[in-house]
Amino acid sequence: MKYLLLLIGLFFLTSCKDSPKPSLQAVEKTSGTELLVDQSHSGKVSIDTLEKYKKLGQKYAATTKGVLGKKLVQAITEKGPDGAVEFCNINALPLTDSISLAHGAKIRRVSDKPRNPLNKANEKELVFITDFKKMLASGKAVEPILDTTGGQIDFYYPIITNAMCLQCHGVPEEQIATSTLAILNKLYPKDMAQDYQVNEVRGIWAINFKENN
Ligand code: HEC
Repeated sequence: MKYLLLLIGLFFLTSCKDSPKPSLQAVEKTSGTELLVDQSHSGKVSIDTLEKYKKLGQKYAATTKGVLGKKLVQAITEKGPDGAVEFCNINALPLTDSISLAHGAKIRRVSDKPRNPLNKANEKELVFITDFKKMLASGKAVEPILDTTGGQIDFYYPIITNAMCLQCHGVPEEQIATSTLAILNKLYPKDMAQDYQVNEVRGIWAINFKENN
């Protein structure tokens, strides 16, 4: 049993190490903008299909952002930031999951500095987060990334902070009030999602489209 576990452990270690480090290429100019795909894009997926999923990804990300944002503002207005933290704690993931179900695509919000450990970005997503940080720093328009490795289509787009976010993701005791901080520490003892400023990459939308979707 011990050896079996060891073997499984080794398998995961090696599979992690061997997983490709995606890097980006712009495949085509579409309506004046670049379509960014992973470098291993083999051309098996047509540009039209990529364009279709880019639009669909943008739509789903915007819809989910709209729903979460509206409920968040409502919760802050009704209960203040402390109550809104509890609202996010209970509802953010179920809301995202229900929108996923409705659209038949897996929609996630992941981060390199997660508050909820369930929202931790994987190795590949971390690379894309770095790409988006560079895109944002360059001052150029931020474009979605499409990843076609593994026979599926994955869509990625950054989630950028604004002033409103800082009351829960800003500097503790400055933008995050002491009472809010206490609730955050209780609910998220391993919270990494603090100390942000405005216009930073807080995380990304990661939307997975299954084949034939
Ligand atoms: C009222 C407090 C509050 C505000 C304001 C707030 N957040 Fe959060 N945020 C949270 C909480 C709590 C979680 C963890 C939710 C969970 O447990 O699923 C979270 C999670 C996230 C996540 C998922 C990744 C992670 O760290 O777990 C992202 C991305 C995120 N927030 C972005 C934002 C952005 C962008 C804004 C501003 C537009 C914002 N948040 C405003 C409280 C807040």
